[in-house]
Amino acid sequence: MQTINQLDSLRDNIAVLRSANKRVALVPTMGALHAGHMALVEAAKKTADAVVVSIFVNPTQFGPNEDLDAYPRTLESDSAKLKGAGVDILWAPNAAEVYPQAFATKMQVGGPSEGYDGAARPGHFDGVALVVAKLFNQVQPDVALFGEKDFQQLAVIRQMARDLDFALEIRGVPIVRDADGLALSSRNVYLSVEERSAALALPRALNKAAEEIRAGCDVASATAAGIADILAAGFARADYFALADAASLETLDHYDGRSARLLAAAKIGKTRLIDNIAV
Ligand code: PAF
Repeated sequence: MQTINQLDSLRDNIAVLRSANKRVALVPTMGALHAGHMALVEAAKKTADAVVVSIFVNPTQFGPNEDLDAYPRTLESDSAKLKGAGVDILWAPNAAEVYPQAFATKMQVGGPSEGYDGAARPGHFDGVALVVAKLFNQVQPDVALFGEKDFQQLAVIRQMARDLDFALEIRGVPIVRDADGLALSSRNVYLSVEERSAALALPRALNKAAEEIRAGCDVASATAAGIADILAAGFARADYFALADAASLETLDHYDGRSARLLAAAKIGKTRLIDNIAV
């Protein structure tokens, strides 16, 4: 595996892959890699000849009071995991390489970025869309893979890529969960033992509400019960617990059998968790 920090060098290496007619996959990450990321790498290996993984803790997607400084940075162990998994290129630029002095471009994606995390974290998806568009231009992949755990992010990236005519396939990869059901997240390391155990209420509440909605229960009652369940389990706050159209993310008051997703975000202790489930 080659670890590359400079854009010129990345471009040279991508050109070599292209001239050998290799299909290139990109797995964008912010590091602190867990089994969820490694599932993206495995899926990437199955669909492409060469896999590029980016590790960049993107400052533009963190709000002023969020955890940019505290975000786990584990480049050495991440690099060992990627090497072991047979990744071809680790693209690990520093902030000045991605956002050089006098960088002045902003992005704003409407549609699926409105509501949910877009409302709870103003500017978050603008930063995500900006860095992902840059990564697409830098790596020029044939396919890029993202986890369905960040379901709204995936919808925003699909929208941005469609709107800006990026000629690549965007592939969503199912959520990886611990054996007890908690969705893997780099932020799970912030949870105390007690919080980790109470956090299981979130996937349980999503499962229960999804079953109820599938069985014809009123959406408002099922989602209200979901919120009540997680608050009773020790969550301090629920930012949202809602049924959305799986493509547009438009909130659904009634379930009409279309492809839909229950989306939730809630805070336990100092940690904000998100999760979702197909309905
Ligand atoms: O999902 C993430 O880890 C990040 O939001 C991403 C897509 C790598 C952009 O920084």
